[in-house]
Amino acid sequence: MNNIHLAQTSQTPFEIDVDYAEGIYIYDKQGNRFADLISGISVSNLGHNNERIKKAIKDQVDKYLHVMVYGEYTQNPQQELANLLAKLLPKQLNSTFFVNSGTEANEAALKLAKRVTGRTELVSCHKSYHGSTHGSLSVTGNENKKYHVRPLLPGVSFMEFNNEADLGLITKKTAAVIIEPIQGDAGVRIPSKSYMAALRQKCNETGALLIFDEIQTGFGRTGALFAFEHYNVVPDILTIAKAMGGGMPIGAFISSHDYMHELTYNPNLGHITTFGGHPVCCAAALENLKILTEGDLINNVENKGKLFEEIISHPSIVEIRRKGLFFAIEMENSNLVQEIVLGCKAQGVLSYWFLSNEESFRIAPPLIITEKEIKETATIIYEVINLVTNK
Ligand SMILES: Cc1ncc(COP(=O)(O)O)c(C=O)c1O
Repeated sequence: MNNIHLAQTSQTPFEIDVDYAEGIYIYDKQGNRFADLISGISVSNLGHNNERIKKAIKDQVDKYLHVMVYGEYTQNPQQELANLLAKLLPKQLNSTFFVNSGTEANEAALKLAKRVTGRTELVSCHKSYHGSTHGSLSVTGNENKKYHVRPLLPGVSFMEFNNEADLGLITKKTAAVIIEPIQGDAGVRIPSKSYMAALRQKCNETGALLIFDEIQTGFGRTGALFAFEHYNVVPDILTIAKAMGGGMPIGAFISSHDYMHELTYNPNLGHITTFGGHPVCCAAALENLKILTEGDLINNVENKGKLFEEIISHPSIVEIRRKGLFFAIEMENSNLVQEIVLGCKAQGVLSYWFLSNEESFRIAPPLIITEKEIKETATIIYEVINLVTNK
């Protein structure tokens, strides 16, 4: 159904007329079922319509919606969520400020780094994606998304991801390095352990703060609660969003009490947002985090990913890059990718493109996907690849 009054920035929308969603599936009003293998995008890690998250939301709705944020009032959902995050994260990441989205978390993280270091320069990576607002876009390594809205923030340099030689761009003038520990929209780029260790070392030597943007990789997607756990490297600031709210809009930037304290004076209220830490979103996020961390769900992610990979492995695939249930499947050219994504959709399986890697398509299913669902959906993908590459 087309609504001319609804602004649209996609030239080729999927146009699924959503009726309801349950588990890994989205159902349209015409009676079709689609397996949501992108979790819309990297949000529904627990699938759709989770009973416990719905109950947490409803319970909070019955108590109060918005009162006021800025830390002025004590609100249980915020407090409990911040406590649980602090319990699960390394000890220096002990202070959380809630915002509404990923890009807002990154904006605030950049501000914090400038404030803490008294420096202005920023370093990011080519092909990174950090959000669509001006600051986040300034550190996004995709020129295509930026050229039409310049000028953006000055003093930003870009290094090649996973290239130790480029770490020389980080200097004593650098306020922060912002990086996805596994690059998402570059097409799931997985760095080496030695690169991540050298990156941390370089930041230590120069006094630059290290910001890990885990907006896409967080909350179990890669087989650990956060992707940085695979590397044993801890950032100075962590930004999260997407899967954080179990389907509700919430993000956060997390750092140490000492660093966060900088935002409390000169000026007072050094960072604010009207809705950040909305109690209903925090209640959903708290329940989401409890569910993710109390059972074996995240421990099983890597094995589920392996099974999926085995089934889709068609000889015409150029490369599969994967960590946990986060996949980029690279084909010979972008036309094949188009045909596969649309062919899969016609067969009731949703995959998607990447912003900075046209030759690959994305698979990031809900982590709750069962073995049976993996077998069914991965087989469809294999068959579609077979069809489009054997024409
Ligand atoms: C790594 C990364 N950072 C930031 C963002 C921006 O998040 P949001 O769309 O919530 O602003 C995204 C969104 O795709 C992302 O993948």
